Amino acid sequence: MSLQPPVIDLSESERAHVHQAIDAACRDWGVFQVVGHGIDLRLMAALRRQMRSLFGAPLEEKLAIARSANNPWGFYDRELTRHARDWKQVYDYGPPDGGDIVPQWPAGLPAFKPIVREFYQACDDVSLRLLRVMSRNLGMPAEALDAHFRPAHTSFLRLNYYPKCPAPSGQLGVNAHTDSGAVTLLLQDMPGLEVLHDGRWVLVEPRRDALVVNLGDVLQVWSNDRYVAPLHRAFTHPDEDRFSAPFFFNPAYSTNYAPLPSAVDARHPPRYRPINWREFRARRAAGDYAPAGEYAQISQYSI
Ligand code: OGA
Ligand code: NI
Repeated sequence: MSLQPPVIDLSESERAHVHQAIDAACRDWGVFQVVGHGIDLRLMAALRRQMRSLFGAPLEEKLAIARSANNPWGFYDRELTRHARDWKQVYDYGPPDGGDIVPQWPAGLPAFKPIVREFYQACDDVSLRLLRVMSRNLGMPAEALDAHFRPAHTSFLRLNYYPKCPAPSGQLGVNAHTDSGAVTLLLQDMPGLEVLHDGRWVLVEPRRDALVVNLGDVLQVWSNDRYVAPLHRAFTHPDEDRFSAPFFFNPAYSTNYAPLPSAVDARHPPRYRPINWREFRARRAAGDYAPAGEYAQISQYSI
């Protein structure tokens, strides 16, 4: 078997050996898979089926629930990553904000809404559990970071559809990037996700019972670079469609993140200036939707 990121069983997530395994995975890889996460495998299977139904619908039906300038939730098929066009269609679900931002539901797929909402909630719970372990591993009280995610947060669930791509060699499904939030949970069905590890692209082999966890930039900053937000990308297949569902566990807009006090000492001075999440998101989004211009990165906040 080729070198793989660790697979960690969360069913004993209060035990010290699990905390240690998570700490090592965060330091060495920035990515790992979790099993025993408590999410019903039937719910995961149901979500996979709903993804196929949604993206298999006629384009007019998908465009009827397209994202707009005022509402980021819904269908979209022209996204860029680092200014390069991805070979994918996406559907984003996040909660309503009391204003123009509202989820959009496909007509004719009655089971889609309850399944998406249930999966979102389940991912939110698992993410918070993982965050508490990471907070402790970084020398803080377990619940020290909760306030950035409760009650307000900006987490969302994305459904990705990578249509079969006749000449896949030069075209990536999603181009290499780091996720900008705290942690991402990913459900995948077929091979495609690769992470950069020790200078090499490593395939993260899909398991039907597992979710992939990867750290985002916010955790790298909090940890003062003890943890790494890994570069990752996804390839397409010449004769098969691929689907995946990342849940981005993102803090509240008001969050200002900087290295945690426990990650800073005389030998490890802070490596980042405080970053405001709303401001960073806005700058990153501009780079993902525009073909040119600056691409927001945490290194721009390095001290
Ligand atoms: C993403 C992502 C990987 C995949 O959407 O941010 O990294 O396997 N997706 O779909
Ligand atoms: Ni990603």
